[in-house]
Amino acid sequence: MNPLRSLILAAAGNDAVRRLVSTAPVSRDVVRRFVAGENTEDAVAVAAALAGDGLAVTLDYLGEHTTDRELADRTVLAYLELLDRLHEAGLAASAEVSVKLSAVGQAFDQGLALANASRICAAAEQCGTTVTLDMEDHTTTDSTLGVLAELRRTWPSVGAVLQAYLRRTLGDCRDLAGTRVRLCKGAYAEPESVAHTEADEVDLNYVRCANVLLAGDGYPMFATHDPRLVAIIGERAKWYDRKPGSYEYQMLYGVRPDEQRRLAETGETMRVYVPYGGQWYGYLMRRLAERPANTTFFLRSLVGT
Ligand code: FDA
Repeated sequence: MNPLRSLILAAAGNDAVRRLVSTAPVSRDVVRRFVAGENTEDAVAVAAALAGDGLAVTLDYLGEHTTDRELADRTVLAYLELLDRLHEAGLAASAEVSVKLSAVGQAFDQGLALANASRICAAAEQCGTTVTLDMEDHTTTDSTLGVLAELRRTWPSVGAVLQAYLRRTLGDCRDLAGTRVRLCKGAYAEPESVAHTEADEVDLNYVRCANVLLAGDGYPMFATHDPRLVAIIGERAKWYDRKPGSYEYQMLYGVRPDEQRRLAETGETMRVYVPYGGQWYGYLMRRLAERPANTTFFLRSLVGT
């Protein structure tokens, strides 16, 4: 892995750095470039604007690694409020939600995480939409897939996320190919024992996994900004006789917005992942690690130049 990327990811997990950055007068623009805002109204406004441009969305209430029952409950309530507002705004058809199990109790009580995720799935169903479970670092993969299987007994449309950098993922794709699966490269610093660490190997595995998902009868969701992979997916989709609407592309809010609109204009389903909430730090650091060119812009804003 690129040394700067490793450094930024290490900083993302460092409490002292977290405190420094979170309390520094970070320019609103830097955060707003990748995060919709701090509250439900901000999230719904951004979802409405994107829907107006023909883009679908998945909304993520930012918060991870909760070790506190009350905080986990607050996260659930935030999702319930969001789902209500999306429904009221007539956005439920184009907006789903993404949930990190670590934000609803996975780190200390898997049963609680399942119960909390179930509350969100039930509310999503009532509002006419669905949920995708984000995937976090590799130590949580089995637990997350276990919770997913439980949720799917009642809500079969709950989406899974698989990360192409993990060596196990091709097998997971085969297991889940008949379902809704988001395929991404993977955003965490993982050891070589479990993950491909060279970019080319990750890309190659992404294409292998994409083939499995496109050949299956599920609904693949290709989450990547990589122009090469977007082009390959387009070609493979034709090869597997997949029509637009039987799969989708996904990109992050603020990343390649012109490409998002271009793909939507060609008739493809493009879903934008929109994070919001006060806990933006870990998310922002992962985005900076992916694109160290953005780091200079960020550091300048910290020191006010
Ligand atoms: P990568 O970062 O390798 O970039 C490849 C190329 O894409 C670059 O060379 C450049 O051409 C282009 N590009 C990338 N970023 C750009 C930018 N900022 N501006 C312009 N061009 C850019 N991860 C995870 O572990 N668990 C999860 O649940 C999710 N969920 C998720 C949902 C969605 C909708 C997305 C898009 C991504 C995720 N991820 C994720 C993150 C994912 O794993 C990955 O870290 C990022 O998407 C970055 O990988 P890329 O595929 O974009 O390629």
